[in-house]
Amino acid sequence: MKLSDRITNITGGGSDGWDVFYKARRMIAAGEPVVELTIGEHDIGTSTAILDAMDRAAKGGHTGYAMVPGTDALRQTVADRIQTRTGVPTTSDNILITAGGQAALFAAHVAVCNPDTKAAYIDPYYATYPGTIRGAGAVPQPIITSPEAAFQPTLDDLMAGTAGAVSLLVNTPNNPTGVVYGAETLDAIAQTCIANDLWLISDEVYDTQVWEGAHISPRSLPDMAERTLVVGSMSKSHAMTGSRIGWVCGPQDAIAKMVNLATHTTYGVPGYIQDAATFALGQGDAVEAEVAAPFRRRRDLTMQALAGQNVVRAVPAQGAMYVMLDIRATGMDGEGFANALLDAERIAVMPGESFGDAAAGHIRVAMTIDDAAYVDALARLIAFAREKA
Ligand SMILES: Cc1ncc(COP(=O)(O)O)c(C=O)c1O
Repeated sequence: MKLSDRITNITGGGSDGWDVFYKARRMIAAGEPVVELTIGEHDIGTSTAILDAMDRAAKGGHTGYAMVPGTDALRQTVADRIQTRTGVPTTSDNILITAGGQAALFAAHVAVCNPDTKAAYIDPYYATYPGTIRGAGAVPQPIITSPEAAFQPTLDDLMAGTAGAVSLLVNTPNNPTGVVYGAETLDAIAQTCIANDLWLISDEVYDTQVWEGAHISPRSLPDMAERTLVVGSMSKSHAMTGSRIGWVCGPQDAIAKMVNLATHTTYGVPGYIQDAATFALGQGDAVEAEVAAPFRRRRDLTMQALAGQNVVRAVPAQGAMYVMLDIRATGMDGEGFANALLDAERIAVMPGESFGDAAAGHIRVAMTIDDAAYVDALARLIAFAREKA
């Protein structure tokens, strides 16, 4: 039986750079000692305190259908957190609780894109972006940025790249580059959205992981709140990746319509997970800083490891749990380098090409193993690159 064009076309087909990842997984399954620096997942699990809260909520009976938009308590907690951090007046009616940031990204695109309209996004990009846009029935339109500009889009890039689009998706702190957008970039984003009458979809799932500068939510810029949908998540801030809990924050009328989407798709998020999230957010900033701390530390260890050589260079890593390394001096592309590194050193990294054309000749390293093993893997990676150069 024939499947719909929409579901068939979610992924583009062909090699998308994930071959290295699957190869590494097969090697691990076969018992080979591979150092995994591929996926954005903490080396700590969800804290016992949060799991206890989840257990209390479930055993206390919160296992039936929960409120589809989210529980009143969690929506209010998220709204307060956003208002405190950004200064933008925010109420629970501005918040829809979703099954992680991924479901929020999908809901946001369904909310603003008609079939076959163009939805712009910045390249390099988080791997699901084009498929999410296609899944929502829209057409992905990448805006290519350059390593020379530290992968920050310029006003010209944005103006040209959003021609004919209805939305622009941005992500700061950024996966895969680790770049945090500064005031100039954010201004250019706001200017473009206002001039071209675009919705901004602002993916802020790494908002607690900033090593240099500060996280600025573009929703807080003048005249942006009415056209911005912010995507948030507990995955990265509280090491709750498997709990699948996040949110969209946006104008009340848009959120009300997205509640209809949730009613007809997920029918909400489990109540005991929402209660655990409410508990986790109530623990305050110190807990979030504690979850983020290993990545800050490993970012510094990365800079130390790279000092004194020029073959492997880091894109300025100001946030998130990754560092993007420029390996073009080896004469290899990212995919070739990642494959050769896996074969020779049993170290798995992601080729830049899996995150779009702009990141060709780079590799993304997830800083997600303990410090000593991480430093050792980096030293071997650098030695390998120097040998190839
Ligand atoms: C940039 C970005 N956005 C969204 C997500 C989705 O995260 P989740 O669905 O776990 O909240 C991720 C996950 O890695 C990500 O890196």
